[in-house]
Amino acid sequence: MRTAAPLSRTGHEYGPAVQITKDDSMRAFEIPEFGIDKLNLTERDLPTPTANEVLIRFHAASLNYRDHMVVTGTYNPRMKMPAIPLSDGAGEIVAVGDAVKKWKKGDRVMPIFAQQWFDGEPSEAKRRTSLGAGPQWEGVLREFGAFHEDSVVEIPEHLTFLEAATLPCAAITAWNALAVSGGLKAGETVLTLGTGGVSIFAVQFAKMFGARVIATSGSDEKIERLRSMGADETINYRTREDWDAAVLELTGKRGVDHVVEVGGSGTLARSLNAVRIGGHIAMIGALTTGSFNPVHIFMKSVRLQGIFTGSRSMFEDMNRAISVNGLRPMIDRVFGFEEIGDALRHLESGSHFGKIVIEY
Ligand SMILES: NC(=O)c1ccc[n+]([C@@H]2O[C@H](COP(=O)([O-])OP(=O)(O)OC[C@H]3O[C@@H](n4cnc5c(N)ncnc54)[C@H](OP(=O)(O)O)[C@@H]3O)[C@@H](O)[C@H]2O)c1
Repeated sequence: MRTAAPLSRTGHEYGPAVQITKDDSMRAFEIPEFGIDKLNLTERDLPTPTANEVLIRFHAASLNYRDHMVVTGTYNPRMKMPAIPLSDGAGEIVAVGDAVKKWKKGDRVMPIFAQQWFDGEPSEAKRRTSLGAGPQWEGVLREFGAFHEDSVVEIPEHLTFLEAATLPCAAITAWNALAVSGGLKAGETVLTLGTGGVSIFAVQFAKMFGARVIATSGSDEKIERLRSMGADETINYRTREDWDAAVLELTGKRGVDHVVEVGGSGTLARSLNAVRIGGHIAMIGALTTGSFNPVHIFMKSVRLQGIFTGSRSMFEDMNRAISVNGLRPMIDRVFGFEEIGDALRHLESGSHFGKIVIEY
């Protein structure tokens, strides 16, 4: 039998680590076939950590746009099933394998997104170890999971489990885009698109680095919130369809130094117009469809860099910066474990601002 510790929304007041016996089981959601309504709540055996693994009891997870694609079948229509979805979780270590040196019971950790991307460049082999998109690297929408001790990182001390669960994909992607690929410097100008998970972290990191932020959104209400978070300039891309022209007006026709491009082919033409000659566009997402003219890329000597999440070493660097600066992730709304369908539909609606979180 398992004795569950009382749950707390602050994340710091959990009781003693849970007691586990061999014949215990846990709740997990599986994708037996594609579709939000098909998600199946099931019982699974509690994983037993091998010598180099730690057993994590998850307290929270967060949603990424990718999770919606995985569940609905647009991420990989040939994905093997059943599979447990979601890549981003946070919890506490409740058991360690015999050879584990880095961690002990009670440590608060998050599994890294690509389980075998520790540092250096990404590779096909590293990318294939991403969580939550198939049975081989199962996701975190389960109460417990066993992970290699090298494939988890410590939660910054000031963050709750709910806040920490927002970091493994969206935050590291924004960090990679600006701090690593962008080499962002104080005084530079950053353009962010929309107010989803990645973009809101990009706003926060850009302000942390002392940059000027021009942020867009399709909602005036969200624009007010962007302003209250410190965005210097804002543009509603629905009422100002030529938002690239607005960016040029705001930068004295020079253009921005960095664009955090989450829109994809439908926004890239305007992003290319809005970036300065020699500027940097971090290509992250594909929320929209459209076409663009590649001539602008070379005529403006733009550095167009594809970004795929980030490594463990980037995650550790980012966590240090988050700790020193006391950064708190922007949580839009918290859903219960069994409300995963509602949470995914909330993501689908696009009405969120920042991160949608699941509390276990
Ligand atoms: N490459 C990677 O490693 C990586 C990592 C994470 C995410 N991604 C990708 O990045 C994209 C964003 O992910 P996310 O998790 O942050 O998504 P999300 O939280 O679902 O964000 C969606 C938001 O994007 C904004 N948006 C939609 N259409 C837009 C448009 N035409 N112009 C500007 N903004 C628009 C909307 O904000 P408003 O309501 O404010 O308009 C919407 O709320 C997705 O394509 C995702 O797959 C890639």
